[in-house]
Amino acid sequence: MTIRMPRTIIVSNRLPTKVQRNNEGLSFKPSEGGLATGLGSIYRQDGNVWVGWPGLLVEDPAEEKQIAEALQGDSMAPVFLSEVEIENFYEGFSNSTLWPTFHYFPQFATYEPAHWQAYVAVNEKFCRAVLELAGPDDTIWVHDYQLLLLPQLLRQQRPDCTIGFFLHIPFPSYELLRVLPWRRQLLEGMLGADLIGFHTFGYMRHFLSSVSQLLGLPNQNGQVELPTRSVLVDAFPMGIDYEHYVQAAGSEAAQQHEATYREALRGSRVVLSIDRLDYSKGIAQRLRAFEQLLQRHPEWVGQVSLLMVVVPSRDQVAQYASLKQEIDELVGRINASFSTIDWNPIYYFYRSFPLEELAALYRLAEVGLVTPVRDGMNLVAKEFVACKTDNRGVLILSERAGAARELSDALLINPTDLEGMAEALHQALTMPADEQEQRMTAMRELVREYNVFAWSKLFMYQLAYSKVKQNTLATH
Ligand code: G6P
Repeated sequence: MTIRMPRTIIVSNRLPTKVQRNNEGLSFKPSEGGLATGLGSIYRQDGNVWVGWPGLLVEDPAEEKQIAEALQGDSMAPVFLSEVEIENFYEGFSNSTLWPTFHYFPQFATYEPAHWQAYVAVNEKFCRAVLELAGPDDTIWVHDYQLLLLPQLLRQQRPDCTIGFFLHIPFPSYELLRVLPWRRQLLEGMLGADLIGFHTFGYMRHFLSSVSQLLGLPNQNGQVELPTRSVLVDAFPMGIDYEHYVQAAGSEAAQQHEATYREALRGSRVVLSIDRLDYSKGIAQRLRAFEQLLQRHPEWVGQVSLLMVVVPSRDQVAQYASLKQEIDELVGRINASFSTIDWNPIYYFYRSFPLEELAALYRLAEVGLVTPVRDGMNLVAKEFVACKTDNRGVLILSERAGAARELSDALLINPTDLEGMAEALHQALTMPADEQEQRMTAMRELVREYNVFAWSKLFMYQLAYSKVKQNTLATH
Protein backbone atom coordinates (compact mmCIF):
# COMPACT_ATOMS: atom_id res chain seq x y z
CA MET A 1 0.00 0.00 0.00
CA THR A 2 1.34 3.47 -0.86
CA ILE A 3 0.71 6.25 1.61
CA ARG A 4 0.38 9.66 0.07
CA MET A 5 0.70 12.91 1.99
CA PRO A 6 -2.17 15.38 1.54
CA ARG A 7 -1.36 17.80 -1.25
CA THR A 8 -2.87 20.81 -2.97
CA ILE A 9 -4.60 20.49 -6.30
CA ILE A 10 -4.49 23.81 -8.09
CA VAL A 11 -7.20 24.25 -10.71
CA SER A 12 -7.41 27.03 -13.28
CA ASN A 13 -8.63 27.24 -16.83
CA ARG A 14 -5.13 27.82 -18.22
CA LEU A 15 -2.12 25.73 -17.21
CA PRO A 16 1.15 27.59 -16.54
CA THR A 17 2.52 25.85 -19.63
CA LYS A 18 1.14 26.57 -23.08
CA VAL A 19 1.45 23.79 -25.65
CA GLN A 20 1.86 24.79 -29.29
CA ARG A 21 2.07 22.82 -32.49
CA ASN A 22 4.70 23.73 -35.09
CA ASN A 23 6.57 22.09 -37.96
CA GLU A 24 8.91 20.23 -35.61
CA GLY A 25 6.04 18.91 -33.45
CA LEU A 26 4.93 20.15 -30.05
CA SER A 27 6.54 22.98 -28.12
CA PHE A 28 6.00 23.91 -24.47
CA LYS A 29 6.16 27.56 -23.40
CA PRO A 30 5.25 29.54 -20.25
CA SER A 31 1.69 30.93 -20.37
CA GLU A 32 0.92 34.63 -20.26
CA GLY A 33 -1.09 36.50 -17.62
CA GLY A 34 -0.81 37.21 -13.94
CA LEU A 35 -2.30 33.95 -12.74
CA ALA A 36 0.17 31.71 -14.54
CA THR A 37 3.24 33.86 -13.92
CA GLY A 38 2.32 34.46 -10.28
CA LEU A 39 1.42 30.92 -9.26
CA GLY A 40 3.96 29.33 -11.58
CA SER A 41 6.60 29.54 -8.88
CA ILE A 42 4.74 27.63 -6.20
CA TYR A 43 2.78 24.75 -7.64
CA ARG A 44 5.70 22.35 -7.87
CA GLN A 45 6.16 22.25 -4.10
CA ASP A 46 5.14 19.28 -1.93
CA GLY A 47 3.86 17.00 -4.70
CA ASN A 48 1.15 19.49 -5.68
CA VAL A 49 -0.49 19.21 -9.06
CA TRP A 50 -2.05 21.78 -11.40
CA VAL A 51 -5.16 20.90 -13.42
CA GLY A 52 -5.98 23.04 -16.47
CA TRP A 53 -6.22 23.53 -20.22
CA PRO A 54 -2.96 23.44 -22.20
CA GLY A 55 -4.22 26.15 -24.56
CA LEU A 56 -4.61 24.32 -27.89
CA LEU A 57 -7.21 22.24 -29.68
CA VAL A 58 -6.26 18.55 -29.69
CA GLU A 59 -8.38 16.15 -31.71
CA ASP A 60 -6.07 13.19 -32.01
CA PRO A 61 -6.17 10.85 -28.96
CA ALA A 62 -2.52 9.86 -29.53
CA GLU A 63 -1.49 13.52 -29.32
CA GLU A 64 -3.64 13.98 -26.19
CA LYS A 65 -1.75 11.12 -24.60
CA GLN A 66 1.61 12.54 -25.65
CA ILE A 67 0.75 15.95 -24.14
CA ALA A 68 -0.66 14.44 -20.94
CA GLU A 69 2.50 12.39 -20.42
CA ALA A 70 4.81 15.32 -21.06
CA LEU A 71 2.88 17.58 -18.67
CA GLN A 72 2.56 14.92 -16.01
CA GLY A 73 6.33 14.94 -15.61
CA ASP A 74 6.00 18.58 -14.62
CA SER A 75 3.11 18.07 -12.15
CA MET A 76 0.36 19.16 -14.53
CA ALA A 77 -2.82 17.33 -15.54
CA PRO A 78 -4.41 18.64 -18.74
CA VAL A 79 -8.12 19.11 -19.35
CA PHE A 80 -8.76 19.22 -23.10
CA LEU A 81 -11.43 21.47 -24.59
CA SER A 82 -13.24 20.73 -27.84
CA GLU A 83 -13.53 23.31 -30.61
CA VAL A 84 -17.10 24.16 -29.57
CA GLU A 85 -16.05 24.46 -25.92
CA ILE A 86 -13.22 26.81 -26.83
CA GLU A 87 -15.70 28.93 -28.75
CA ASN A 88 -18.61 28.90 -26.31
CA PHE A 89 -16.97 28.45 -22.92
CA TYR A 90 -13.60 30.20 -23.36
CA GLU A 91 -14.14 32.88 -26.01
CA GLY A 92 -17.87 32.99 -25.23
CA PHE A 93 -19.03 33.00 -21.63
CA SER A 94 -15.61 33.49 -19.99
CA ASN A 95 -14.23 36.21 -22.24
CA SER A 96 -17.29 37.79 -23.82
CA THR A 97 -19.63 37.73 -20.81
CA LEU A 98 -17.75 37.53 -17.51
CA TRP A 99 -14.52 39.34 -18.44
CA PRO A 100 -16.20 42.51 -19.81
CA THR A 101 -18.80 42.57 -17.02
CA PHE A 102 -16.27 42.17 -14.22
CA HIS A 103 -14.00 44.84 -15.79
CA TYR A 104 -16.83 47.39 -16.09
CA PHE A 105 -17.31 47.04 -19.86
CA PRO A 106 -20.96 45.87 -19.93
CA GLN A 107 -21.31 47.34 -23.42
CA PHE A 108 -18.99 44.56 -24.67
CA ALA A 109 -20.85 41.75 -22.86
CA THR A 110 -23.02 39.19 -24.66
CA TYR A 111 -25.64 37.02 -22.94
CA GLU A 112 -25.90 33.82 -24.97
CA PRO A 113 -27.70 30.82 -23.43
CA ALA A 114 -25.51 28.47 -25.51
CA HIS A 115 -22.40 30.08 -23.99
CA TRP A 116 -23.83 29.64 -20.50
CA GLN A 117 -24.60 25.97 -21.17
CA ALA A 118 -21.03 25.42 -22.34
CA TYR A 119 -19.78 27.22 -19.21
CA VAL A 120 -21.76 24.82 -16.99
CA ALA A 121 -20.61 21.79 -19.01
CA VAL A 122 -16.92 22.75 -18.91
CA ASN A 123 -17.06 23.47 -15.18
CA GLU A 124 -18.52 19.94 -14.81
CA LYS A 125 -15.71 18.58 -16.95
CA PHE A 126 -13.12 20.22 -14.68
CA CYS A 127 -14.99 18.79 -11.68
CA ARG A 128 -14.62 15.24 -13.02
CA ALA A 129 -10.93 15.81 -13.80
CA VAL A 130 -10.25 17.09 -10.27
CA LEU A 131 -12.19 14.30 -8.55
CA GLU A 132 -10.17 11.71 -10.45
CA LEU A 133 -7.01 13.10 -8.90
CA ALA A 134 -8.05 14.36 -5.47
CA GLY A 135 -7.73 12.16 -2.42
CA PRO A 136 -10.13 12.80 0.51
CA ASP A 137 -7.53 14.80 2.45
CA ASP A 138 -6.26 16.87 -0.44
CA THR A 139 -6.95 20.58 -0.56
CA ILE A 140 -8.46 21.91 -3.78
CA TRP A 141 -7.64 25.48 -4.74
CA VAL A 142 -9.74 26.79 -7.64
CA HIS A 143 -8.71 29.93 -9.51
CA ASP A 144 -10.44 32.64 -11.45
CA TYR A 145 -13.56 33.62 -13.33
CA GLN A 146 -13.60 30.75 -15.82
CA LEU A 147 -14.40 28.31 -12.98
CA LEU A 148 -16.90 30.13 -10.75
CA LEU A 149 -19.22 27.11 -10.61
CA LEU A 150 -16.53 24.59 -9.77
CA PRO A 151 -16.43 25.03 -5.95
CA GLN A 152 -20.11 24.13 -5.62
CA LEU A 153 -19.89 21.23 -8.09
CA LEU A 154 -17.00 19.80 -6.06
CA ARG A 155 -18.86 20.39 -2.80
CA GLN A 156 -21.86 18.40 -4.04
CA GLN A 157 -19.62 15.40 -4.70
CA ARG A 158 -17.35 15.80 -1.66
CA PRO A 159 -19.24 17.60 1.11
CA ASP A 160 -16.29 17.53 3.53
CA CYS A 161 -13.56 18.49 1.11
CA THR A 162 -11.38 21.55 1.76
CA ILE A 163 -11.95 23.96 -1.12
CA GLY A 164 -10.44 27.41 -1.62
CA PHE A 165 -11.34 29.86 -4.36
CA PHE A 166 -9.38 32.91 -5.52
CA LEU A 167 -10.54 35.49 -8.05
CA HIS A 168 -7.70 37.12 -10.01
CA ILE A 169 -9.81 39.83 -11.63
CA PRO A 170 -11.95 42.57 -10.03
CA PHE A 171 -15.29 41.65 -8.53
CA PRO A 172 -17.68 44.31 -9.83
CA SER A 173 -20.26 46.34 -8.01
CA TYR A 174 -23.70 44.75 -7.53
CA GLU A 175 -25.08 47.12 -10.19
CA LEU A 176 -22.89 45.43 -12.80
CA LEU A 177 -23.32 41.88 -11.57
CA ARG A 178 -27.10 42.10 -11.45
CA VAL A 179 -27.19 42.59 -15.23
CA LEU A 180 -26.12 38.95 -15.76
CA PRO A 181 -29.03 36.54 -16.25
CA TRP A 182 -27.06 33.83 -14.36
CA ARG A 183 -25.93 36.01 -11.43
CA ARG A 184 -27.42 33.79 -8.69
CA GLN A 185 -25.92 30.58 -10.04
CA LEU A 186 -22.51 32.25 -10.26
CA LEU A 187 -22.59 33.41 -6.64
CA GLU A 188 -23.88 30.04 -5.43
CA GLY A 189 -21.10 28.35 -7.39
CA MET A 190 -18.44 30.41 -5.61
CA LEU A 191 -20.03 29.79 -2.21
CA GLY A 192 -19.20 26.10 -2.57
CA ALA A 193 -15.72 27.06 -1.30
CA ASP A 194 -14.68 27.25 2.37
CA LEU A 195 -12.61 30.37 1.72
CA ILE A 196 -13.08 32.92 -1.07
CA GLY A 197 -10.20 35.31 -1.70
CA PHE A 198 -9.96 38.60 -3.60
CA HIS A 199 -7.04 40.93 -4.30
CA THR A 200 -8.58 43.91 -2.46
CA PHE A 201 -11.12 44.78 0.23
CA GLY A 202 -13.09 46.69 -2.41
CA TYR A 203 -13.73 43.54 -4.48
CA MET A 204 -14.55 41.61 -1.33
CA ARG A 205 -17.07 44.27 -0.30
CA HIS A 206 -18.75 44.13 -3.73
CA PHE A 207 -19.02 40.36 -3.52
CA LEU A 208 -20.51 40.40 -0.04
CA SER A 209 -22.98 43.08 -1.06
CA SER A 210 -24.11 40.97 -4.07
CA VAL A 211 -24.44 37.87 -1.88
CA SER A 212 -26.61 39.81 0.53
CA GLN A 213 -28.77 41.51 -2.12
CA LEU A 214 -29.19 38.58 -4.52
CA LEU A 215 -29.18 35.61 -2.15
CA GLY A 216 -30.40 37.33 1.02
CA LEU A 217 -27.36 36.10 2.92
CA PRO A 218 -25.83 38.61 5.33
CA ASN A 219 -22.26 38.30 6.62
CA GLN A 220 -20.47 38.96 9.82
CA ASN A 221 -16.86 40.11 9.41
CA GLY A 222 -16.71 38.39 6.03
CA GLN A 223 -18.27 35.15 7.27
CA VAL A 224 -21.35 34.04 5.32
CA GLU A 225 -23.60 31.52 7.08
CA LEU A 226 -25.21 28.83 4.90
CA PRO A 227 -27.67 26.28 6.34
CA THR A 228 -25.05 23.57 6.79
CA ARG A 229 -21.72 25.38 6.84
CA SER A 230 -20.10 28.78 6.68
CA VAL A 231 -17.88 30.46 4.08
CA LEU A 232 -15.12 32.93 4.88
CA VAL A 233 -14.43 35.82 2.50
CA ASP A 234 -11.21 37.83 2.72
CA ALA A 235 -8.69 39.97 0.81
CA PHE A 236 -5.26 38.57 -0.13
CA PRO A 237 -3.29 40.91 -2.42
CA MET A 238 -1.20 38.67 -4.65
CA GLY A 239 2.55 39.16 -4.93
CA ILE A 240 5.29 37.99 -7.29
CA ASP A 241 8.33 35.74 -6.96
CA TYR A 242 10.50 38.74 -6.02
CA GLU A 243 13.86 36.95 -5.83
CA HIS A 244 13.30 35.35 -9.21
CA TYR A 245 12.96 38.80 -10.80
CA VAL A 246 15.87 40.25 -8.83
CA GLN A 247 18.06 37.39 -10.05
CA ALA A 248 16.86 37.75 -13.63
CA ALA A 249 17.61 41.49 -13.51
CA GLY A 250 21.10 40.83 -12.15
CA SER A 251 21.91 38.05 -14.64
CA GLU A 252 24.70 38.35 -17.16
CA ALA A 253 22.16 37.79 -19.97
CA ALA A 254 19.91 40.66 -18.85
CA GLN A 255 22.88 43.01 -18.58
CA GLN A 256 24.06 42.09 -22.06
CA HIS A 257 20.60 42.65 -23.52
CA GLU A 258 20.39 45.98 -21.74
CA ALA A 259 23.72 47.09 -23.22
CA THR A 260 22.54 46.14 -26.72
CA TYR A 261 19.25 48.02 -26.31
CA ARG A 262 20.99 51.10 -24.94
CA GLU A 263 23.30 51.23 -27.90
CA ALA A 264 20.39 50.93 -30.33
CA LEU A 265 18.46 53.67 -28.51
CA ARG A 266 21.39 56.12 -28.77
CA GLY A 267 20.81 57.82 -25.45
CA SER A 268 17.04 58.20 -25.68
CA ARG A 269 15.39 57.87 -22.27
CA VAL A 270 12.87 55.07 -21.93
CA VAL A 271 9.29 54.82 -20.70
CA LEU A 272 8.15 51.19 -20.61
CA SER A 273 4.72 49.67 -21.00
CA ILE A 274 4.01 45.90 -20.95
CA ASP A 275 0.57 44.26 -21.15
CA ARG A 276 -1.44 41.48 -22.64
CA LEU A 277 -3.58 42.85 -25.47
CA ASP A 278 -6.74 43.82 -23.59
CA TYR A 279 -9.19 46.72 -23.56
CA SER A 280 -9.03 46.71 -19.75
CA LYS A 281 -5.35 47.72 -19.92
CA GLY A 282 -5.93 51.23 -21.26
CA ILE A 283 -3.31 50.86 -24.00
CA ALA A 284 -4.91 53.33 -26.42
CA GLN A 285 -5.35 55.95 -23.67
CA ARG A 286 -1.71 55.51 -22.73
CA LEU A 287 -0.59 56.15 -26.32
CA ARG A 288 -2.69 59.30 -26.45
CA ALA A 289 -1.22 60.49 -23.15
CA PHE A 290 2.30 59.94 -24.50
CA GLU A 291 1.35 61.94 -27.58
CA GLN A 292 0.12 64.73 -25.27
CA LEU A 293 3.43 64.69 -23.42
CA LEU A 294 5.24 65.36 -26.69
CA GLN A 295 2.77 68.13 -27.58
CA ARG A 296 2.66 69.83 -24.18
CA HIS A 297 6.38 69.44 -23.45
CA PRO A 298 8.16 69.55 -26.80
CA GLU A 299 11.51 69.49 -24.98
CA TRP A 300 11.01 65.69 -24.75
CA VAL A 301 10.79 65.25 -28.51
CA GLY A 302 13.97 63.46 -29.55
CA GLN A 303 14.76 62.71 -25.88
CA VAL A 304 12.28 60.07 -24.67
CA SER A 305 10.91 56.92 -26.30
CA LEU A 306 8.00 54.74 -25.28
CA LEU A 307 8.86 51.03 -25.46
CA MET A 308 5.56 49.26 -25.67
CA VAL A 309 5.23 45.48 -25.44
CA VAL A 310 1.80 44.09 -26.22
CA VAL A 311 1.49 40.37 -25.71
CA PRO A 312 -1.02 38.76 -28.13
CA SER A 313 -4.14 37.51 -26.38
CA ARG A 314 -7.67 36.24 -27.18
CA ASP A 315 -7.48 37.46 -30.77
CA GLN A 316 -10.53 35.37 -31.73
CA VAL A 317 -12.73 37.67 -29.60
CA ALA A 318 -14.00 40.61 -31.69
CA GLN A 319 -13.07 43.45 -29.29
CA TYR A 320 -9.49 42.23 -29.05
CA ALA A 321 -9.07 42.18 -32.83
CA SER A 322 -10.43 45.73 -33.19
CA LEU A 323 -8.31 46.98 -30.28
CA LYS A 324 -5.24 45.59 -32.04
CA GLN A 325 -6.17 47.60 -35.11
CA GLU A 326 -6.73 50.76 -33.06
CA ILE A 327 -3.31 50.40 -31.42
CA ASP A 328 -1.58 49.73 -34.74
CA GLU A 329 -3.12 52.89 -36.19
CA LEU A 330 -2.36 55.06 -33.19
CA VAL A 331 1.28 53.97 -33.08
CA GLY A 332 1.55 54.58 -36.82
CA ARG A 333 0.01 58.04 -36.54
CA ILE A 334 2.14 59.18 -33.58
CA ASN A 335 5.37 57.83 -35.07
CA ALA A 336 4.59 59.42 -38.41
CA SER A 337 4.01 62.82 -36.77
CA PHE A 338 7.00 62.94 -34.43
CA SER A 339 9.79 60.65 -35.72
CA THR A 340 13.09 62.12 -36.79
CA ILE A 341 15.83 60.40 -38.76
CA ASP A 342 17.66 59.42 -35.58
CA TRP A 343 14.81 59.10 -33.06
CA ASN A 344 11.61 57.07 -32.72
CA PRO A 345 8.88 58.10 -30.28
CA ILE A 346 7.38 54.61 -29.96
CA TYR A 347 8.96 51.18 -30.25
CA TYR A 348 6.06 48.75 -30.46
CA PHE A 349 6.43 44.97 -30.07
CA TYR A 350 3.44 42.68 -30.57
CA ARG A 351 4.84 39.50 -29.00
CA SER A 352 6.02 38.11 -25.71
CA PHE A 353 9.61 38.30 -24.44
CA PRO A 354 11.67 35.73 -22.51
CA LEU A 355 12.30 36.61 -18.87
CA GLU A 356 15.91 37.84 -19.28
CA GLU A 357 14.90 40.23 -22.08
CA LEU A 358 11.95 41.46 -20.05
CA ALA A 359 14.25 42.02 -17.09
CA ALA A 360 16.60 43.98 -19.38
CA LEU A 361 13.69 46.20 -20.44
CA TYR A 362 12.73 46.78 -16.81
CA ARG A 363 16.34 47.70 -15.98
CA LEU A 364 16.57 50.04 -18.93
CA ALA A 365 13.35 51.94 -18.35
CA GLU A 366 13.38 55.07 -16.20
CA VAL A 367 9.61 55.08 -16.06
CA GLY A 368 7.21 52.15 -15.79
CA LEU A 369 3.86 53.20 -17.24
CA VAL A 370 1.09 50.91 -15.95
CA THR A 371 -2.27 52.49 -16.64
CA PRO A 372 -5.12 49.96 -16.86
CA VAL A 373 -8.68 51.29 -16.81
CA ARG A 374 -9.53 48.27 -14.65
CA ASP A 375 -7.21 45.55 -13.36
CA GLY A 376 -7.61 42.94 -10.62
CA MET A 377 -4.05 43.44 -9.37
CA ASN A 378 -1.44 44.01 -12.14
CA LEU A 379 1.73 42.12 -11.46
CA VAL A 380 3.73 43.99 -14.15
CA ALA A 381 3.88 46.95 -11.76
CA LYS A 382 5.42 44.68 -9.11
CA GLU A 383 7.83 43.08 -11.59
CA PHE A 384 9.09 46.52 -12.66
CA VAL A 385 9.71 47.48 -9.03
CA ALA A 386 11.48 44.17 -8.28
CA CYS A 387 13.87 44.63 -11.24
CA LYS A 388 14.91 48.17 -10.18
CA THR A 389 17.80 46.82 -8.13
CA ASP A 390 19.50 50.25 -8.07
CA ASN A 391 16.37 51.77 -6.43
CA ARG A 392 16.05 54.26 -9.28
CA GLY A 393 13.15 54.74 -11.65
CA VAL A 394 9.55 55.87 -11.28
CA LEU A 395 6.35 53.84 -11.45
CA ILE A 396 3.26 55.55 -12.86
CA LEU A 397 0.28 53.46 -11.80
CA SER A 398 -3.44 53.62 -12.43
CA GLU A 399 -5.51 54.10 -9.31
CA ARG A 400 -7.88 51.48 -10.78
CA ALA A 401 -5.35 48.62 -10.58
CA GLY A 402 -5.56 46.48 -7.44
CA ALA A 403 -1.80 47.10 -7.00
CA ALA A 404 -2.47 50.81 -6.31
CA ARG A 405 -3.78 49.85 -2.85
CA GLU A 406 -0.29 48.70 -1.92
CA LEU A 407 2.05 50.71 -4.15
CA SER A 408 1.10 54.12 -2.87
CA ASP A 409 4.62 55.44 -3.55
CA ALA A 410 3.97 55.24 -7.27
CA LEU A 411 2.65 58.31 -9.09
CA LEU A 412 -1.03 57.37 -9.04
CA ILE A 413 -3.08 58.55 -12.01
CA ASN A 414 -6.61 58.32 -13.33
CA PRO A 415 -6.28 56.64 -16.77
CA THR A 416 -9.22 58.59 -18.19
CA ASP A 417 -7.43 61.87 -17.44
CA LEU A 418 -4.99 62.07 -20.36
CA GLU A 419 -3.67 65.47 -19.31
CA GLY A 420 -3.01 64.15 -15.83
CA MET A 421 -1.20 61.15 -17.30
CA ALA A 422 0.94 63.38 -19.56
CA GLU A 423 1.85 65.57 -16.56
CA ALA A 424 2.70 62.48 -14.47
CA LEU A 425 5.07 61.44 -17.27
CA HIS A 426 6.72 64.86 -17.16
CA GLN A 427 6.94 64.70 -13.38
CA ALA A 428 8.48 61.21 -13.54
CA LEU A 429 11.07 62.28 -16.13
CA THR A 430 12.11 65.26 -14.01
CA MET A 431 11.93 63.61 -10.58
CA PRO A 432 15.10 64.17 -8.49
CA ALA A 433 17.16 61.02 -7.84
CA ASP A 434 16.69 61.12 -4.06
CA GLU A 435 12.91 61.21 -4.38
CA GLN A 436 13.04 58.30 -6.85
CA GLU A 437 15.14 56.34 -4.39
CA GLN A 438 12.88 57.08 -1.48
CA ARG A 439 9.76 55.95 -3.32
CA MET A 440 11.36 52.95 -5.02
CA THR A 441 12.98 51.66 -1.82
CA ALA A 442 9.64 51.69 0.00
CA MET A 443 7.89 49.88 -2.86
CA ARG A 444 10.65 47.29 -3.23
CA GLU A 445 10.48 46.50 0.47
CA LEU A 446 6.75 45.88 0.21
CA VAL A 447 7.00 43.75 -2.95
CA ARG A 448 9.85 41.75 -1.37
CA GLU A 449 7.94 41.05 1.82
CA TYR A 450 4.46 40.36 0.45
CA ASN A 451 5.70 38.06 -2.28
CA VAL A 452 3.78 35.22 -3.91
CA PHE A 453 5.01 32.71 -1.33
CA ALA A 454 3.72 34.82 1.55
CA TRP A 455 0.44 35.23 -0.36
CA SER A 456 -0.18 31.53 -0.92
CA LYS A 457 0.96 30.67 2.61
CA LEU A 458 -1.49 33.12 4.10
CA PHE A 459 -4.34 31.88 1.89
CA MET A 460 -3.64 28.22 2.71
CA TYR A 461 -3.29 29.00 6.39
CA GLN A 462 -6.64 30.81 6.46
CA LEU A 463 -8.23 27.98 4.50
CA ALA A 464 -6.99 25.35 6.94
CA TYR A 465 -8.01 27.54 9.89
CA SER A 466 -11.54 28.13 8.57
CA LYS A 467 -11.94 24.37 8.05
CA VAL A 468 -10.79 23.50 11.57
CA LYS A 469 -13.10 26.16 12.99
CA GLN A 470 -16.05 24.74 11.07
CA ASN A 471 -15.30 21.19 12.13
CA THR A 472 -15.02 22.29 15.77
CA LEU A 473 -18.36 24.06 15.60
CA ALA A 474 -19.96 21.03 13.89
CA THR A 475 -18.90 18.68 16.71
CA HIS A 476 -20.28 20.94 19.46
C1 G6P B 1 -5.72 37.07 -16.73
C2 G6P B 1 -6.70 36.10 -16.10
C3 G6P B 1 -6.21 34.65 -16.22
C4 G6P B 1 -5.86 34.35 -17.66
C5 G6P B 1 -4.86 35.37 -18.21
C6 G6P B 1 -4.51 35.14 -19.67
O1 G6P B 1 -4.55 37.13 -15.98
O2 G6P B 1 -6.92 36.44 -14.75
O3 G6P B 1 -7.19 33.76 -15.77
O4 G6P B 1 -5.33 33.05 -17.80
O5 G6P B 1 -5.42 36.67 -18.06
O6 G6P B 1 -5.66 35.07 -20.44
P1 G6P B 1 -6.03 33.80 -21.29
O7 G6P B 1 -7.41 34.04 -21.80
O8 G6P B 1 -5.00 33.74 -22.35
O9 G6P B 1 -5.95 32.59 -20.39
